[in-house]
Amino acid sequence: MSVQDRPRVLVTRRTFDEVLASLRERFDVDDNQGDVPLAPDELRRRAAACEGIITAVADPVTAALLDACPRLRIVANCAVGTNNVDIPACTERGIMLTNTPGVLDDTTADHAWALMFAAARRVVSSDRWLRDGHWKAWGFMDWHGVDVHHATLGVIGMGRIGQAIARRGAGFDMNVIYHNRNRLPAADEAACRASYRSMDALLGEADFVVVSVPYGPATHHLIGARELGLLKPTAVFINIARGGVVDDPALVALLKAGRIAAAGLDVFENEPALDPGFLGLENAVLTPHIASASRATRLGMAELAARNLTAALSGERPPSLVNAEVTPR
Ligand code: DGY
Repeated sequence: MSVQDRPRVLVTRRTFDEVLASLRERFDVDDNQGDVPLAPDELRRRAAACEGIITAVADPVTAALLDACPRLRIVANCAVGTNNVDIPACTERGIMLTNTPGVLDDTTADHAWALMFAAARRVVSSDRWLRDGHWKAWGFMDWHGVDVHHATLGVIGMGRIGQAIARRGAGFDMNVIYHNRNRLPAADEAACRASYRSMDALLGEADFVVVSVPYGPATHHLIGARELGLLKPTAVFINIARGGVVDDPALVALLKAGRIAAAGLDVFENEPALDPGFLGLENAVLTPHIASASRATRLGMAELAARNLTAALSGERPPSLVNAEVTPR
């Protein structure tokens, strides 16, 4: 294939040099190593001439974008979540959509636990207090938090990531309960040492509630004011799923009123423009959507996205095809 005939691909956000180098061996690559997020018009302009695009969670892949890309054969989303993509619009146009499942499960589960500990043991606020020069004397009655060990962990959403979070509970002698759209097979429940509960029962029983469901119309505000109102006053609430799954203003109001102990949040509705109410809360630990952000895992995600794209543009079935029913262009 001559250089001119090589398929053109766009990588919408900064990625690993080695991944770009391997893409350049086969494709004419338009990269964005400057990493300024592409506005919708710019994304459309640069994707228009491409056979493939590697997208990130904040890139809206809409029907209008797809219509501007007559040569496009694959959208390789570099994320496990695909809520930024209009999946039926891809399928109707014969465009393959892939994601990056599996490679980020343990890293994301680790971050859920990091948030659990940080929120329960007040790691961030006490660090801030110390740096601000307030530590004048050791205090027996200061900085009391909530115990993680022997507490009840409730996981809402028991896909691969939810199960990885649940399995870690055994290490801290926790009682693990879960809620999922469908109850897990007995062998999976046993592997996680987890017992099934209805959502309301879980919300009322768990000391730590971790939300780990995909986002879509069915899970929009799955956790709203009513559900949050069921939490124990000592509960710690964790969201590593997606903004939009939780009604953030309702959560801000709950935390502000001290109606639960604390929250640890990695994702926000309308991120990065999160509800400003969160910023003044001492009982919330906030991270900027970094649950999968270990170097090894982000590299694994980038490599899988590149493998998906390469397979699709070589006429093969990509390893993690989301719209399996698609008839490729
Ligand atoms: C995902 O993969 O969906 C994460 O939210 C981004 O790493």
